[in-house]
Amino acid sequence: MKKILFPLVALSLGLSAPAFAQRGDATPTTLIAKPGEKTVGDADGAFTSLFKFNEPTGEAMYKRVCAGCHMPDAKGAKAAGMYPALAANKNLATAGYPLYIVLHGKNGMPPVGKMMTDQQAADVVNYVRSNFGNKYKDKVTAADAKATR
Ligand code: HEC
Repeated sequence: MKKILFPLVALSLGLSAPAFAQRGDATPTTLIAKPGEKTVGDADGAFTSLFKFNEPTGEAMYKRVCAGCHMPDAKGAKAAGMYPALAANKNLATAGYPLYIVLHGKNGMPPVGKMMTDQQAADVVNYVRSNFGNKYKDKVTAADAKATR
């Protein structure tokens, strides 16, 4: 009995545990569609197709999408994963850097910008770069977002 059980347990742990941990980490509740919003019905597909956020301002988008990981005060979090602070963050000095990350993701950060219009992606980047102790005056535009996709 032991001989049969061990490989089965090892196999199921090996295959399902990391996938589950990753999915749990990268899917905050803020990214789940609200009633009436279009989805394709599965979490992975949501990053590539029909689902689009309809938040009208950078601030609303920050609260809906980014705050779940980077926290409402943008100071980041050290929980199961590490979410860097966006508050007073010198890495935001070059506008193209946060714009690129929003559109393409990075490691534990999903490419949430794929579910935004060019204008929405630009707005949320401009919002983060001019709030939370960040005082960058230059702005990115919808055209910049389009070119960065
Ligand atoms: C699912 C969680 C999650 C969400 C949602 C999320 N992020 Fe992130 N973000 C991360 C993680 C994790 C990193 C660190 C990636 C790395 O460097 O490995 C990160 C990194 C970043 C960085 C780079 C910071 C640096 O100092 O290099 C920026 C900028 C950023 N996120 C902006 C945003 C913005 C703006 C939003 C909302 C539109 C957002 N993130 C949504 C998890 C998230």
